[in-house]
Amino acid sequence: MNFPAPLLEQLRDARRMVALTGAGISAESGLATFRDAQTGLWTKFKPEELATAEAFQRDPKFVQDWYAWRRQNAADAKPNAGHLALVEVEKRAPEFLLVTQNVDGLHERAGSKRIVELHGNIHRFRCFENDCSTDNFDAENGRCRSCGGYLRPAVVWFGEMLPTAALETAIDAAERCDAFFSIGTSSIIYPAADLWRRAKNSGAIIIEINKDPTPLTPLADYSFLGKAGEILPALFEIVWSKKQFTK
Ligand code: APR
Repeated sequence: MNFPAPLLEQLRDARRMVALTGAGISAESGLATFRDAQTGLWTKFKPEELATAEAFQRDPKFVQDWYAWRRQNAADAKPNAGHLALVEVEKRAPEFLLVTQNVDGLHERAGSKRIVELHGNIHRFRCFENDCSTDNFDAENGRCRSCGGYLRPAVVWFGEMLPTAALETAIDAAERCDAFFSIGTSSIIYPAADLWRRAKNSGAIIIEINKDPTPLTPLADYSFLGKAGEILPALFEIVWSKKQFTK
């Protein structure tokens, strides 16, 4: 794959990089994206119908079972070359922040350390009834031991606010970076889909890597249509073959 020489130069000179990832970077690990049709048992349901407090209130056990199924899929999946390429970026770029919309935990398992999970993490729980602070949870039975209420996954549901600290960290990093990557996301869910604009307005170059065109595609400085697991390693191999970043 060829990359424009100006992009390679800009990345070699970049000091601060931010990468926003979405479900597409986990697709090559075998995890369905949100806008793909759901498989198996859940084919007839849309995430928007299940990942809500209303759906949970209606039938907690049903929604807990859906998350248990997704948690198991995530646990069975392995980080792919796209996740691993971003671990290399973190090791070599003077400053790097990974902002993910994914809740599957694969970036952490790949070895990324500087991660902001905008939408939470499916492997963590919260007490649904009283948001009990203790971690006194009976995850096996989906119950909070402090109040006996149901446990919910510690993820952001549709219609809920994003964790303030995570969002502020992501915004601050986007507004200070020299290069902003949008990887494997349809760029339609806000506020994550607005981060590139903040970076652009602060003078960063915007690079999109996505299998299909998105609303960002015509607006990015560079847009590569294809698989993250192929494009990311190829790009960073060339960027670093000529220059070792020094921390
Ligand atoms: N490499 C790169 N991109 C890919 C790949 C791949 N191998 N496979 C799929 N894609 C792209 C698709 O073209 C699509 O544009 O990944 C994108 C995934 O888009 P969505 O399914 O909308 O997932 P995402 O953008 O992460 O959704 C954002 O919406 O449903 C909510 O909270 C949920 O975090 C999620 C948010």
